Amino acid sequence: MNVLILGSGGREHAFAWKIAQSSKLDSLFIAPGNAGTAEVGTNVNIEVNDFEAIKTFVIENKVNMVVVGPEDPLVNGVHDFFLADEKLKNIPVIGPKKDGAELEGSKEFSKKFMQKHGVPTARYQSFTKENLEEGYAFLETLKPPYVLKADGLAAGKGVLILEDLQEAKTELKNMVADAKFGAASTTVVIEEFLHGIELSVFVLTDGENYKILPSAKDYKRISEGDTGLNTGGMGAISPVPFADEAFLNKVEEQIVKPTINGLKADGIDYKGFIFIGLMNDKGSPSVVEYNVRMGDPETEVVIPRIKSDLLDLFEGVANRTLGEKTFEVDDRTATTVMLVSGGYPEAYEKGKIMTGFGAIENSIAFHAGTKQEGNNIVTSGGRVLALTSFGTDIKDALSKSFANAEKINFDKKYYRTDIGFDLV
Ligand code: AMP
Ligand code: GLY
Repeated sequence: MNVLILGSGGREHAFAWKIAQSSKLDSLFIAPGNAGTAEVGTNVNIEVNDFEAIKTFVIENKVNMVVVGPEDPLVNGVHDFFLADEKLKNIPVIGPKKDGAELEGSKEFSKKFMQKHGVPTARYQSFTKENLEEGYAFLETLKPPYVLKADGLAAGKGVLILEDLQEAKTELKNMVADAKFGAASTTVVIEEFLHGIELSVFVLTDGENYKILPSAKDYKRISEGDTGLNTGGMGAISPVPFADEAFLNKVEEQIVKPTINGLKADGIDYKGFIFIGLMNDKGSPSVVEYNVRMGDPETEVVIPRIKSDLLDLFEGVANRTLGEKTFEVDDRTATTVMLVSGGYPEAYEKGKIMTGFGAIENSIAFHAGTKQEGNNIVTSGGRVLALTSFGTDIKDALSKSFANAEKINFDKKYYRTDIGFDLV
């Protein structure tokens, strides 16, 4: 099989690393990829939203399957584009069509979906500039902190959590009337604040059957002790110790099943990953958000723990035979620690020469923001490298990730030394 992965981060390197191990694989392409994906496949210089260029490449290179990493091309309809094209319609795309991608593309859509199908989530209402006054009144009925969410995609920045009522009102106005997040905040969802501890559960579905993948917890803030600005994620751990069998059973019965059945009932034929962001409040799960893709850096701990052939599972998704596929998970703990460029998530420099790859032992280095420049691997993003390790427990796995974090060098390297601090 010839496979094309769309994307260029640590998530896509982890997919490529895993797919490269499949006996079903002939050729692996990654568009646009990074210096790490080039070690296990062939990078193709095409952007993920350039559907015409993707089409030409897929036809010329006899690609048999497309695996979509990020949400953008899904929300923009890459899967629909394939289905509408005579030459592409029989090539499976792993990732939902536009209708399913709305679960991430619109917070209002996803809240309505959850409410309709009885999936536990925070109470909410949505507002535009037409009913701003009602938005102020709704805020007055809530207790702080106040949660304001831009309806559309805002590159992970569209959620504000505010302690002060007056500030919440001002920000609501900034969002709906003054386009704080551009068109994404024309509509704003205001919801109740959920207490508890966050984790994520991932589902792979063919629209009918599903597999629940290993749970994971990521560390989103830039600084130690989960403080400072939000990032894409500074590290991750799988499995999550407090997500025991009893809790995961609740997640499956109260959340996964109603989600899969709800999609079917609404006529949404969903083939791909569902990333369920959860809050665990004293053993009761509720949904913070859906994403229509895998998480990053969660993928860097979840995918290595899957022992089964990922391409075989993807074939199951494509043929709607996922229920017949074996699915085995490694019992060991996996951790990943993200090396980032100094300054991230604000301004940072790129093009820093990276050294130390040869010294890495007992970890997998998943490239997130790197590129090959002559004989050097240089930094090309805020998040640079995810160091994933296995261990008997979190401490054991982390000791390997941290030891290798010291060995990789580049100017202004930064990483958090307290990943997993709340779990050990
Ligand atoms: P989202 O993009 O919806 O995942 O929101 C980003 C982050 O904001 C989440 O990962 C949570 O940490 C936090 N968050 C979102 N909604 C809530 C909520 N209702 N209660 C508490 N925290 C929330
Ligand atoms: N790590 C969070 C995300 O991928 O959205």
